[in-house]
Amino acid sequence: MSQHPSHLTTPVPRRAVVTGAAGFIGSHLAHALVQAGAVVVGVDRRDPATDHTAAANLAVLQGLPGYMHVTADLLDCAIEPLLVDANAVFHLAGIPGVRPSWGPRFSEYVASNVLATHRVMEAATRMGVPRLVVASSSSVYGPTDGGASVETDRPQPTSPYAVTKLAEEQLCLAHSTQAHCPTSVVALRYFTVYGPRQRPDMFTHRALTAALTGRPLRLYGDGHQRRDFTYIDDAVTATIVAGTIPTANGVINVGGGSSASLLEVINIANSLTGREIQVHQENPRSGDVLTTRANPGRAHEVLGWRPQVDLHNGMRAQMQALVGELHTSGEKPRVAVV
Ligand code: NAD
Ligand code: UGA
Repeated sequence: MSQHPSHLTTPVPRRAVVTGAAGFIGSHLAHALVQAGAVVVGVDRRDPATDHTAAANLAVLQGLPGYMHVTADLLDCAIEPLLVDANAVFHLAGIPGVRPSWGPRFSEYVASNVLATHRVMEAATRMGVPRLVVASSSSVYGPTDGGASVETDRPQPTSPYAVTKLAEEQLCLAHSTQAHCPTSVVALRYFTVYGPRQRPDMFTHRALTAALTGRPLRLYGDGHQRRDFTYIDDAVTATIVAGTIPTANGVINVGGGSSASLLEVINIANSLTGREIQVHQENPRSGDVLTTRANPGRAHEVLGWRPQVDLHNGMRAQMQALVGELHTSGEKPRVAVV
């Protein structure tokens, strides 16, 4: 499987800004945009010279003529010069993760997800950028009865993180509805994105790492939680289309159509690696919901988007990337199927 969306047939913005470009989704997005011919300015506060994860994420972009990287914090840097001539801003910078948002890091969540977003949106407006795509989250829906969430459902966030993501998307939409605002906004509610370079705190990464190394996996709850897993290439394709289609606006679910429980993810990891993960069950964590599931109707109608990659194939691609990373770090992963 390619590391960028090979089925990308949509036009791309001529010049784009990707915030959070040293992160998981941002680095894939920036790479796919450059591969498709866009000139991209990537911004991130993590410095690849000192931050190993940022450097690893940005490695694919290094030396590409269409890509320029800026290390800066959106809370206090001059944003307008970065947006000169931009046709679209993809605002992915933020502090992700449900569980740590209860702790003392909450102020960081507010700072990056709300205050920095306000600055980005103000700058986009002042610079007349026609489109801003903002990364929202399935977590804004909160608990469901197991059915699919529609964009018009009343959000009921159950974690501090989810509250900041709801504030973030609504803030951008509020700016865009002001008279004479030149920037139209699309807020994408991503559903648990996975694939190569996925954040190491996330479940799929941890399950595959446990299977490859023999280290135990901590399972929060009984494993019957379900997620609508979204493969990274599919998420990137939806994001690029959202930055390009003139009529797109408002909130759109980006859910991968691979509904699975954590136990099913463990089984796939076991079968891909040919070994049983050692599971240590712990209490469920505050703020986690039992089920996320996207109603994909609006994504299809507005963006013409449908996910292409199922969980088994997506996890195989993620496992192959992890095997390479583990070899580089001197570990000897055990694998049955590569
Ligand atoms: P990530 O942590 O890998 O990437 C986010 C990047 O934003 C990081 O590199 C970080 O340094 C940067 N950043 C944070 N605050 C910044 C600031 N003030 N100035 C400049 N850079 C800053 O996370 P990810 O998984 O790639 O998620 C990207 C976005 O998508 C986030 O906004 C997240 O909330 C959202 N999201 C992710 C998922 C998922 O499954 N990964 C699902 C729903 C929503
Ligand atoms: C993920 C991202 O981390 C969020 O940033 C994003 O906003 C959210 O998706 C989204 O879809 O909006 P989450 O669904 O919690 O959040 O994804 P994981 O972090 O992969 O966790 C999934 C489940 O696995 C949770 O129930 C969690 O408690 C559990 N888990 C996670 C474990 O049992 N063990 C672990 O080591 C990690």
